[in-house]
Amino acid sequence: ADPDPLQDFCVADLKSSTSANGFPCKLSSEVTSDDFFFDGLVKEGNTSNAFGGSVTPGNVLAFPGVNTLGISMNRVDLVPGGLNPPHLHPRSTESGIVIEGKVLVGFVSTGNVFYSRVLRSGEMFVVPKGLVHFQMNVGDGKALIFTAFNSELPGAVVLPLTLFGSKPSVPIDVLTKAFQVDEDVVNGIKSKFGF
Ligand code: GLV
Ligand code: MN
Repeated sequence: ADPDPLQDFCVADLKSSTSANGFPCKLSSEVTSDDFFFDGLVKEGNTSNAFGGSVTPGNVLAFPGVNTLGISMNRVDLVPGGLNPPHLHPRSTESGIVIEGKVLVGFVSTGNVFYSRVLRSGEMFVVPKGLVHFQMNVGDGKALIFTAFNSELPGAVVLPLTLFGSKPSVPIDVLTKAFQVDEDVVNGIKSKFGF
């Protein structure tokens, strides 16, 4: 069988003599220690946004050393009340550990059962591959979480942005019918995402 894709898409270049599901390799002679260490998750992300949260990726695009290794990590920062909004990773299961703060972590199964718990420092969670999940800071201080993936490029489908912030837009009739609401409601939500 074909391997699982590691990217959203790979448009074939039929004239190229190289092909890869992922990325071609740097020459071994040019590889150094720097390729296997990454300080991109050291700093707090920018949480000055509507969600009050930020996800800093440590995927293959940020940290090329993980190419073909099937793993990666993220850093999640949340202000009090901040949310990493409902999303799913098409190519990965996720595990995570709360380093600081008090965080409501939840996911919904394909049978629409909601599983959740409030976690504190040192406590861990798992989100099965492809399921919709979120994290919300329910404490009084900042929250810091590190997440880990069994994919070098897990991808993220962020539901509010996917449905209400795509370019071009999903047709309004699809959204009004899907959510059983009037156009005003759909346009109200879209306006929050700059439409
Ligand atoms: C958290 O859900 C993350 O995707 O890093
Ligand atoms: Mn996630």
